[in-house]
Amino acid sequence: MDLFEYQARDLFEKHGVPVLAGAVATTADEAFAAASKMGGRVVVKAQVKVGGRGKAGGVKLAENAEDAREKAAAILGMDIKGHIVHQVMIAQAAPIESEYYLAILLDRSNRTFLVMASVAGGMDIEEVAKTAPEKLAKVPVSAVDGISVAKAKEIIAQAAFPADVAEQVADVLVTLWKAFAAEDATLVEVNPLVKTSDGKIIALDGKVTLDENAEFRQPSHEGLVDHSATNPLEALAKEKGLNYVKLEGQVGIIGNGAGLVMSTLDVVAYAGEKFGGMRPANFLDIGGGASAQVMADGLSIILGDKDVKSVFVNVFGGITACDAVANGIVAALATLGSTATKPIVVRLDGNNVEEGRAILNAANHPLVEQLDTMDGAASRAAELAAK
Ligand SMILES: Nc1ncnc2c1ncn2[C@@H]1O[C@H](COP(=O)(O)OP(=O)(O)OP(=O)(O)O)[C@@H](O)[C@H]1O
Ligand SMILES: [Mg+2]
Repeated sequence: MDLFEYQARDLFEKHGVPVLAGAVATTADEAFAAASKMGGRVVVKAQVKVGGRGKAGGVKLAENAEDAREKAAAILGMDIKGHIVHQVMIAQAAPIESEYYLAILLDRSNRTFLVMASVAGGMDIEEVAKTAPEKLAKVPVSAVDGISVAKAKEIIAQAAFPADVAEQVADVLVTLWKAFAAEDATLVEVNPLVKTSDGKIIALDGKVTLDENAEFRQPSHEGLVDHSATNPLEALAKEKGLNYVKLEGQVGIIGNGAGLVMSTLDVVAYAGEKFGGMRPANFLDIGGGASAQVMADGLSIILGDKDVKSVFVNVFGGITACDAVANGIVAALATLGSTATKPIVVRLDGNNVEEGRAILNAANHPLVEQLDTMDGAASRAAELAAK
């Protein structure tokens, strides 16, 4: 989960990373109020989860509260790379002397953590990385050792930070590592980290990505979720404990096992080409259990998607036998009653397949059609979706 800048700022503050005062505003009047409270010059910053806000005109200096109101009015509602600005952060303006760059991230390809540090910070770090990579120090960090003061000093020396700030920046790096580890982050980036005219080191812009796999031990992270951006069907599925991802197509998909569901998406997309480009409408893995309740939950979420025109249930019976899945489908349709309105193509195979098929045949539900092969069922589901 990516955080907004103001959330990153709050997180930094909580862990002792030096930041300036900041407040969120959703209207120009709120921006005026926040800026009046802060006093003096402020910076009005678009809060969107995308880089390059400054260059897009989403970061503006305001001389006073009245000016902050105007700047906020201009920035609110702006479209930055497809992200509409609904909130701005009012931040105290810093007298900047130098801009640096610091980041800690999970380096998946090298199976380690990585620190990146540069004295050439600011808005163009991607450019620096491309054109002058020698100015961007990259140092692996082991999960076991983390970043000690000594290690931080080594990194700061390698990145050639000036002597007068080296110690302060090293301290910030140690604190950033503590925040990174404590919050189960996969990315913590400060750009710019600035030296002010009175020699202080401050994090002026932060990007943080939190590891959703660590949710279970980070209850406070729930409060950072941007619910307005979550798809309502995905939110509902999460509530029910289902592995569901909304896609753009018309054929609803239910399968057991992530691998089978992934290949089902491919097969449906391929079959759909013959029927005017029908595509899978979602990923839904009901997993091993596949009880009637899970099937009912899954079906009701998929049938609740207005884009869905047909449903393809593709189950390979393993530990969960096909007869149990078939009973699940029958019970689910009984539960859903008249709310189930779209054709459902079922392909069962594997453990107890004959029993499973017999159960569906006996139920003879008007919406359900059975096919024996995955390709045949995918094709039929796409055809029904196109009708
Ligand atoms: N509080 C502040 N005081 C003074 N100047 C600031 C402040 N915040 C940002 N700036 C200036 O604005 C520039 C851009 O700000 P910031 O880094 O927050 O946005 P950005 O890098 O363009 O956005 P993104 O991080 O989304 O790419 C900074 O490099 C800095 O020069
Ligand atoms: Mg920045």
